[in-house]
Amino acid sequence: MKYANEIKRRRSFAIISHPDAGKTTLTEKLLLFGGAIQIAGAVKSNKIKKHATSDFMEIERQRGISVATSVMTFEYNGILINLLDTPGHKDFAEDTYRTLTAVDSVILVIDSVNGVEEQTRRLMEVCRMRDTPVIVFINKMDRDGKNRFELLEEVEKELNIHLHPMTWPINSGKDFKGVYDLHNKSLVLFTPNTKASDEDVVQIKDLNEPLLDTKIGESDAAMLREDVELVDGVHGELNVDDYLRGKVAPVFFGSAVNNFGVKEMLDTFIRIAPLPQSRETSVRELDVNEDRFSGFIFKIHANLDPKHRDRIAFLRVCSGKFERNKYYHHVRLDKDVRFSNPYSFMARQKDVIEEAYPGDVVGLFDTGNFKIGDTLTEGENLFFTGIPVFSPELFKEVVNKDPMKTKQLEKGLMQLTDEGVAQLFTQFGGNKKIIGCVGELQFEVIQYRLLQEYGASAEFKALPYFKACWITSNDAKKLEDFTRFKTNNIAADKDGHVVYLAQSEWFLNTERQNNPDIEFHFTSEVHK
Ligand code: G4P
Repeated sequence: MKYANEIKRRRSFAIISHPDAGKTTLTEKLLLFGGAIQIAGAVKSNKIKKHATSDFMEIERQRGISVATSVMTFEYNGILINLLDTPGHKDFAEDTYRTLTAVDSVILVIDSVNGVEEQTRRLMEVCRMRDTPVIVFINKMDRDGKNRFELLEEVEKELNIHLHPMTWPINSGKDFKGVYDLHNKSLVLFTPNTKASDEDVVQIKDLNEPLLDTKIGESDAAMLREDVELVDGVHGELNVDDYLRGKVAPVFFGSAVNNFGVKEMLDTFIRIAPLPQSRETSVRELDVNEDRFSGFIFKIHANLDPKHRDRIAFLRVCSGKFERNKYYHHVRLDKDVRFSNPYSFMARQKDVIEEAYPGDVVGLFDTGNFKIGDTLTEGENLFFTGIPVFSPELFKEVVNKDPMKTKQLEKGLMQLTDEGVAQLFTQFGGNKKIIGCVGELQFEVIQYRLLQEYGASAEFKALPYFKACWITSNDAKKLEDFTRFKTNNIAADKDGHVVYLAQSEWFLNTERQNNPDIEFHFTSEVHK
């Protein structure tokens, strides 16, 4: 329990959303509250780099997406907050899924005009798998959005989570007047483009006070009274335990670009968000309060500048104290390693750090020793479980264009897939190498990097598969027979787990029906 005080003052979370819902804007406002940046626009300008440092960066710039997930640390009311950024672009969804294993809670941003969108659904599925506590921020209330009750119903139904409104909006679009804070019993009035902390807040403990009519007009006051009676009647006080178990999500309404409703959410966040949590490992549950250090790698970010070929591995500290220059046990490689320049992050700036505690994320320079899911400890042999691998959606065969560079190609494929850029499968029988990704963009990235970094030239030939299913069975003989009969559709992932490559949903369903003793899974885990 040596580090209880450090643990108590930390919160690590990620903001997730469908692209364009307002994640970057909200991030920026939170950083302004934390004093981590001084001017609006600072985060935005990082999103698309002005000077491309390589051709690949040019691809990134042109597509206007941020490949990197960086970590931003700031302090608010004495609480040290680690905000892990996640790429919004769908082609990089796997990166986001893995980042979700490194946080203790999330804030989900929903655009009040568009409601639940494709990425929102998928991201929430990952949160539900881990029962991650979620706070919902309904953004863009300054635009004519969906009816507030219908929107909440849609979110509850589509995302399969109970919602608990913490603030309640008064109109939307050009008639948006603000929100009533149900927890603090105060009226927060909306004026566009307010700066941090100068919101117009009026205490109205009893909504029957005539002051309410004076402030927002009689008809809106009447509607608010009716709405709040309905909402309060259904929800009452937030049960924080239900939130912490991932059963109920508190909801805030606001407008990130106008910095409205953000402070209410941040204040609630630091009041209720979970501290760094204990975690399951391959051998036992690891208590976050243990004195001995442990942590795992959840992301590897390659440096795309050809002059500096190093990579940065992102380590989440799970217990104990991480110290610079101290030897730690790299469990998979069974060797001791130390780091002379571990980094902490503040957007694009990096600072060397001396120590880090549970909940913190440390950037470690890597020359190829790490892969996703690797664990560092003070000697114990364990792996953190629950780091998900999802079935890719696009599959292509690797075609070697330069037989003289076969070794380089193999090395490149191994290292790039260790980073989690894509998944590598080897077909049974034919020994074909198959790359699986969630988006077309990754194939471009891989092709570019194989050539630039390994001197290997490869092309990709599209394959007609729609999913890779990890197959298991209690009956070893049945599994063996199935893999033998279906050789052409069977492959092994990098860890030797067997997958069935399905051409279509119809084929998959047919195989499921014909082989009731075999289970087909769309997800796997790095360490089972
Ligand atoms: P993302 O990171 O989730 O992809 O979204 P981002 O914050 O970049 O926001 C997407 C767009 O939505 C931006 O407009 C942003 O200004 C706008 N936006 C964010 N919050 C609000 C809000 O509360 N109300 C309204 N009306 N708009 C909001 P853009 O035109 O793409 O960029 P910009 O030119 O404004 O920077």
